[in-house]
Amino acid sequence: MKFDQGFIDKVRESSNIVDIIGQYTQLKTSSADQHLGLCPYPDHNEKTPSFSVSDSKQVYYCFGCKKTGNVFTFLRDIMGLSFPEAIEYLARRASIDLPKQPASQHQIQKQEKDKKEKELLKRINALASRVFVKNLQTQPEGSMVRDYIQSRGFSPEIIETFKIGYALPEWEHLAGTFKSKSVPMGSAEKLGLIKTSKNVEKSKTGFFDIMRGRLIFPIESPTGEVIGFGGRVVDPEDKPKYLNSPESPLFHKGKTFYGLYETAKFIRSADYSIVVEGYTDLIALYAAGIKNVVATLGTALTEDHAKLLKRYSKNVVVLFDGDQAGRVAAERSLPLLLKAGLYPKGFVLPEGNDPDDFLKEHGVKVLKEKLAKSPDLFQVVMSWHFKGFTGSATEKVTIVDKLAPYLAQASDRRLKSLYIRELQDRLGVDQKWLTQSLGAAGGFQADSGVAPKSHQNPVQKGNNYSPLEVVKIVNPPKAELYLLNLALKSPENLEAIKNSGVLEQFSHTKIAGLIIETHEKYLQNLNEFDNLTASLVDRVEPPEILNLQFQKQIADLKAGEERKLIDDCIRRVKQEALKRKSKELAYAIASAPTEREQKLEELRDLQKSKLIDFKDMNQE
Ligand code: CTP
Ligand code: MN
Repeated sequence: MKFDQGFIDKVRESSNIVDIIGQYTQLKTSSADQHLGLCPYPDHNEKTPSFSVSDSKQVYYCFGCKKTGNVFTFLRDIMGLSFPEAIEYLARRASIDLPKQPASQHQIQKQEKDKKEKELLKRINALASRVFVKNLQTQPEGSMVRDYIQSRGFSPEIIETFKIGYALPEWEHLAGTFKSKSVPMGSAEKLGLIKTSKNVEKSKTGFFDIMRGRLIFPIESPTGEVIGFGGRVVDPEDKPKYLNSPESPLFHKGKTFYGLYETAKFIRSADYSIVVEGYTDLIALYAAGIKNVVATLGTALTEDHAKLLKRYSKNVVVLFDGDQAGRVAAERSLPLLLKAGLYPKGFVLPEGNDPDDFLKEHGVKVLKEKLAKSPDLFQVVMSWHFKGFTGSATEKVTIVDKLAPYLAQASDRRLKSLYIRELQDRLGVDQKWLTQSLGAAGGFQADSGVAPKSHQNPVQKGNNYSPLEVVKIVNPPKAELYLLNLALKSPENLEAIKNSGVLEQFSHTKIAGLIIETHEKYLQNLNEFDNLTASLVDRVEPPEILNLQFQKQIADLKAGEERKLIDDCIRRVKQEALKRKSKELAYAIASAPTEREQKLEELRDLQKSKLIDFKDMNQE
C-alpha cells in the first residue's frame, strides 16, 4: 500500500525511536537527549553498552559496530519490515487509522457479503437466545432445571441479567422453530445450533438440535450481541458437562470473555478485572456483588484476551481453582499478561475449591479481602517453583530456567527489574550471576531489565567491581598504573586502551576492572567524562594512584608522545603477561613430568608468539 507524504510525516511525528528501540534493548537515559544500551543488532554481541539513541535527532548510533540509522532502518533490520509495513506498524502503535484503502470491486463485494452474513448469523443467535429464555421461563416449579437453578442459587435478577435460558430435552425444538420462521438452516448449522439429521424418515425438519436438556449461557460480544452459547447439563448423568458453540464468523473463543458486556463498566470503575475460568464462576462472583469479573470459556487465556483486558484496566487479578489444572492455567497466563503490559496479580483458591465453593464456605467479605491483598502473579508463580527449595545449585539453575521466559516477556521494564531483584533475593545469588543466567536461559540481553542495586545496598557481596566497593591496590606494576591514568585523561585514550584488548592481560585485574568500570560509566554519560576521576577517587586505595594523570609525566605530554606512551605501556603489559605464562608453564613442566611433552609444546608456541610480538615492535 502506498502512503502519501502527509500520512508518513504524521506517523513519523507520533513515533519515538527511543520507545521503539527500547523494546529491543534496555536503554538508559544518559543525558536529556542520549539513551544508551547494548547494541540490539544480533551480529554485534556486546557486553558493555555502546548503542546510543538520540531523542531530539531520532537517530541511533552504535559506538561499537558503527551502525547508524532512523526508526525505519531499525524496523527493517530488526523486524524485517518493509517501509510500508513499518509505516503500518508505527501507525497502529500510535493508534492512527490507516488511510482507507481503495478496494477493488471484488473486495467490496466480498466485504459486503461477509457483513450481510454476519448480520444474518446474529439474527439467528438472537432468535435462539429468545427461544432458550422463554423455555426456562415456562419450566414449572419442581422441574429438573428449576431445581438445578435453585441449588446454584441463581436469582431471577441474575437469570435476567445474563439472559440465562434452557434448551428443552427435545430433538427438534429449536430446529422446528427455525423451520417455521424460514431461517436458512445452513446458517443455523454454521452456528452449531442444529445439525443435519441422517435419520431422514423420522426427522420432521431434516435437522436436530445440538443443545438438549441444558442450561444455556448466551455469550455476548463486547457490544452486547449474542455470538455463541454455552450449555451446561442439568442432569449430572449427561455428558459432557458443557457444550460450547463452535468457532464461527461471529465467535472466536480465544478472543472472547464471557460476561464482559455486563461487567465492563464495573471493571472500569474498580480499575481492575478479575479473571475466572468459566460461566458459573463469573456468575457466583457477580451475584455476590463482585462484578468486575470476566471469564474465559474453558480455554487458556490468550494474547488477544490480554489485549482486550487492557482496554478496560491495566490491573488484573487471576482467580483460579486450587487444583493442578488451575495452577497450570494461572502460570500459563503470566507471560501473556506481562507481555500485554498489564499488572497481573493472582489468587489461587485452596485445593478443591472453585469460586462458588469458596464464597459459600468463607463468604464474600473474605474473598474481597483476599482479592484486594493478592500478591503479584509473578510472586505466586515464583513461590510454586520455590516449594521445597533447599538452596542447592541445581535448584537455583532449574528455577532460573523456569522463570526466565516469563521475565523475558515482561514489557514493563520497571516491573521486570523489580521481579528480577526479588528473584535475586530469594535465590541468594549476586546480580551478575542472575543477569548472566537469565541471559542464558531466556533469550535476554545481557543486562536487560536489571536495575543497578548499588543505590540501595552500599556494600555488595560477590560482585567484582560494583560501584561502591573500595578497591585496594597493592604494588601496582608501573605500566598498568600508567594505563589507568592515561585512560582517565581523555575519552580517546580510554577508548583506545579499552579496545586494545590489553585489559585481559593485566596482572592486577582490579586495575583492569577500574578501567572497564570507568568505560561503562563513560558510555552512560558521554558528556561527563571529567567527573569520572572524581567518582573513583574516594573508592580507590590509595587514592594517589590516580594522581599520575595530573603529573607532568602524563599531563605535559604532547598528543603524539601520549599515543606513544600508551602503545609502549600496552606492549609492556603484554610482554609481562607472556613472561608470566612462560613461568607458569616452566613450573608446570618441572612439577608434572608426565605432561612434559605437551607443556613444552605450549612453551615453544608461546615463545614463537613472543618473537612475533617483538618483531612488530621493531618494525615501528
Ligand atoms: N468447560 C467446558 N467444557 C467442559 C468443562 C468445562 O467448556 N467439558 C468450561 C466452561 O466454560 C466452564 C469452565 O470450563 O465454565 C470451568 O469448568 P468447571 O470448573 O468444570 O465448570 P464450572 O463452570 O465451574 O461448572 P460447575 O461449577 O457447575 O461444575
Ligand atoms: Mn465450578
